[in-house]
Amino acid sequence: MSSLNALRGMTLHFNDDPGTSDEPREGSVEFHQDGLILIQEGRILQSGPAQVLLENLPEGTPIEHWPDQLIMPGFIDPHLHYSQLDIIASYGRQLLDWLNTYTFPEECRFVDRAYADEIANAFLEQLLANGVTTALAFCTSHPASVDALFSAAFERNMRMLGGKVMMDRNAPAALCDTPETGIRDSRQLIEQWHNRGRLEYAITPRFAPTSTPQQLAATGELLSDYPGMVMQTHLSENRQEVEWVKSLFSEARDYLDVYSRYQLVRPRAIFAHGIYIDDDVRQRLADDGGAIAFCPSSNLFLGSGLFDWRQAREQEVRVGIASDIGAGTSFSPFQTLQDAYKVGQLSGQPLTPWQAFYAHTLGNARVLDIDHHIGSLTAGMEADITVINPRATPMLTRKDRHDPTLMEKLFNLMILGDERCISATYVMGKKLYDAASH
Ligand code: GUN
Ligand code: ZN
Repeated sequence: MSSLNALRGMTLHFNDDPGTSDEPREGSVEFHQDGLILIQEGRILQSGPAQVLLENLPEGTPIEHWPDQLIMPGFIDPHLHYSQLDIIASYGRQLLDWLNTYTFPEECRFVDRAYADEIANAFLEQLLANGVTTALAFCTSHPASVDALFSAAFERNMRMLGGKVMMDRNAPAALCDTPETGIRDSRQLIEQWHNRGRLEYAITPRFAPTSTPQQLAATGELLSDYPGMVMQTHLSENRQEVEWVKSLFSEARDYLDVYSRYQLVRPRAIFAHGIYIDDDVRQRLADDGGAIAFCPSSNLFLGSGLFDWRQAREQEVRVGIASDIGAGTSFSPFQTLQDAYKVGQLSGQPLTPWQAFYAHTLGNARVLDIDHHIGSLTAGMEADITVINPRATPMLTRKDRHDPTLMEKLFNLMILGDERCISATYVMGKKLYDAASH
């Protein structure tokens, strides 16, 4: 008989997009005050009300009980840079100066495999301590930086997506590849890592200014050999950057068109930021199936600007929400959601807690097209789960004493919560983070 175990507590997940009004769409939210999740061999066998499931539970099944704690699918972060762990909180620059002053020098250090290993392990521990079980990560241009991340994720059996940065101009020579070596190294890494365990390779041209037209053309050809593969890059984050792209690619209609010309705009293409875009760009993104990763803490930290989520939604662009570490300032999805809420307030579009928690779970899984594996607590899903304590801090405890509704509880968490709220994180049913032992 295969091993069974169970988690019991307030279970919460989404079956669908809850919409943008204060009342979630009918059937989109599934919540059980006393819920149970039955796990078999790392997958969810069943979830629902504890009273019902306990009746048929085989005798002796171990149950871990988290009374009054929320049990949710592990959070998903669809855009960050693992190599930028140690440059979080770097003072006083906007995007292009920040890249030259802090980012590129730090990324040069990844020529040393031991350094990359140390950062990769610390990075994954940070994710897990924040309830994040899956991420789509930029590595550096060094192929061994991918080996470091994927080895560390493979050891933990985490569902992780990432790729070697391709960049062949406008950066230090030590970080530049060439159209040929960029493609050759990416192909080798794909052979070595793609679909090994729960890992997925992602083709990663950094952004238009650091790739020659030749490199972008070669990237498009590489993608045509792997049509289902994720592609990640950056788009229209900063005004100076947009002007620079205009001057580098004067023949292109706009920034997105640079990518379109090389067949990079497609389903499973993830464009970080997308702040300075118009209706026409949004329409083309929606038509071609590309998605935007909205990175509010990064956009505020670098002074980049305010992303217009409502307009993107109206035009049916797929939008995920991400930390963008290390321009982003926190690994905590609660903090990212807090910043998303504030960005929304500045543009008259407050983010509902339903939309927020949907976005960081099932929504991001859909954006990455991995919702058949993770993102909810339904039967068959991989048991990547996080346990959240709504009374983790004195202030949260005060707020939680007033018998909040579920919506208020979630809002308290997204405004006042941080990594202290994560009690435990499970990967394929195995507890990899336990606050009690930290
Ligand atoms: N655009 C190109 N590279 C980067 C990066 O590393 N971080 C951010 N925020 N934007 C970028
Ligand atoms: Zn980024």
